[in-house]
Amino acid sequence: MIKVFAIGDVVGRAGRKAIEKSIGLIKKRYKPDILLLNGENSAGGFGITKKIFHQFTEEWGFDCITTGNHWHDKKEIIPFIPEAERLLVPGNMENVADETAGLKILTSTTGVKFAVINLIGKAFMHDGNRNPFQAASRLVAKIPENVKVRIVDMHAEASSEKAGMAYFLRSKVSLVYGTHSHVPTADERILSGGTGFVTDLGLTGSYDSIIGMEPKAALKRMLTSKKARLEPAKDNPWLCGITAEIDENSGYCKKIDRVCLKLNDIDV
Ligand SMILES: [Fe+2]
Ligand SMILES: [Fe+2]
Repeated sequence: MIKVFAIGDVVGRAGRKAIEKSIGLIKKRYKPDILLLNGENSAGGFGITKKIFHQFTEEWGFDCITTGNHWHDKKEIIPFIPEAERLLVPGNMENVADETAGLKILTSTTGVKFAVINLIGKAFMHDGNRNPFQAASRLVAKIPENVKVRIVDMHAEASSEKAGMAYFLRSKVSLVYGTHSHVPTADERILSGGTGFVTDLGLTGSYDSIIGMEPKAALKRMLTSKKARLEPAKDNPWLCGITAEIDENSGYCKKIDRVCLKLNDIDV
């Protein structure tokens, strides 16, 4: 059985600190074969840098980093994408020309072959994003038959679109999880056809915040409609995501559980 540990949008320094503080405990307690995270907000709340990507992969042992609508906010990352073997961008996003940038076939540090697909929604997002379901069909068709462990990060605003993707890919992939809302959902389940699903992994970062950001500036924008610079919040870090067990022979998800480590409350 292959154990997957996936965490949701890592926001700023608080998110990275949450990982630094708990990575030892995660490896000891959950013994993951495949470690994943969504890093679209990991650099100052907006985007990801090469340095942070390398910290995730080389220092902490993450096998693969997915992203979302903020993937390109730090411009240095754009030329790095074609050469970054373990960094995905949403294949159907309007500013991603090569759809296959949303698919990687990888081998984990523990020797497990697996596929990861990164897609983005259309509902309440940029109109220019291409149809994620058509993109999913094309990308799934590119996965070699012998790669049974298949994981999809569906980065979307609408819960219905995330569930739609899970039902669309039922029996074709092992796991579909949503990201982007920065709120963990309590609906993890295994669909008939052996596909594990949760609507959103949730935020890894400060929970004294509005979806990871300092409330003051976020509220100013809401109350006055004036621009205010958003900064990642710092306090009360949580690390949120799921663990899943996948049968490497069938690709079926056999178990899926929510994980939320409230780091102020635990001794690590
Ligand atoms: Fe995000
Ligand atoms: Fe996002």
